[in-house]
Amino acid sequence: MTGRIAHLSDLHFGTVENGLDASLAEDLGEQGADAVVVTGDLTQRAQADEFTAARRFLDGLGLPVLAVPGNHDIPAHDLLARFGDPFGRWHAYFSPSTEGMIALGDTLVIGLNTVRRMAAHLDWSAGRISHEQIASIVSARTERRARRVVLALHHPPVHPDWAAHRRPLGRSRALRATLGRTGVVAILAGHLHRPLMLEQGRGLPPQIVSGSSLSHRHDGHGNSYNLVDVGASRIDVTVRQRRGMRWLAAPIRPGPADLEAVSARVGTGGAENLS
Ligand SMILES: [Fe+2]
Ligand SMILES: [Fe+2]
Repeated sequence: MTGRIAHLSDLHFGTVENGLDASLAEDLGEQGADAVVVTGDLTQRAQADEFTAARRFLDGLGLPVLAVPGNHDIPAHDLLARFGDPFGRWHAYFSPSTEGMIALGDTLVIGLNTVRRMAAHLDWSAGRISHEQIASIVSARTERRARRVVLALHHPPVHPDWAAHRRPLGRSRALRATLGRTGVVAILAGHLHRPLMLEQGRGLPPQIVSGSSLSHRHDGHGNSYNLVDVGASRIDVTVRQRRGMRWLAAPIRPGPADLEAVSARVGTGGAENLS
């Protein structure tokens, strides 16, 4: 095993029940994670107090944290702020950066910001990845001489059938076309508020989505987070589901789109090209 990631998402501070964040922190403390990855929507309305609460919660975990923004982390109605400085409050109250990397042994976890202030279509909650961001995955992997990459984004590049009406990540085809060169063995995402894993097949990496870890906006699927164990040749994922103020490994339920406890064999994505 090269590392254990606690994969949280869609915290939506501002919509968190009293005491729930403390119970999650306690459970995380017992799981032996090496790092925490948060795939966006840390806040509900991109407010200063929501960002401050998210910062305090994550700082209190005492682990390396990699967090990327979600569509809720830029102002929705304050158009001056949205267009002029969409990540101003993120920078002022949460973090100087919206992207980052964490090394777990020979695995590099790369977080990219897929939130856009506007789009050429009506659904501005949808995200997009740029060609520069895709190229940055390759260069970061080469520079850090990482054997494999785990990518963290808010917006899933592929949607399951039940979410087919929602617009998936823009330029996801370009991302998928280059995955063989990027060494990406898994994509962590959020936005759908429901834990799931999509086996993409044809050598493409699995896409692992975390449910909403803290918000009551969980769309009936409860609160959850994922433990992602990245090994040399496989990835094991376990869902920790909230039950009252406790968190338990979820029972296995059948269903291709429901992630409970699953494993996927992964290739090294051309890592043999790195000496
Ligand atoms: Fe969300
Ligand atoms: Fe979202």
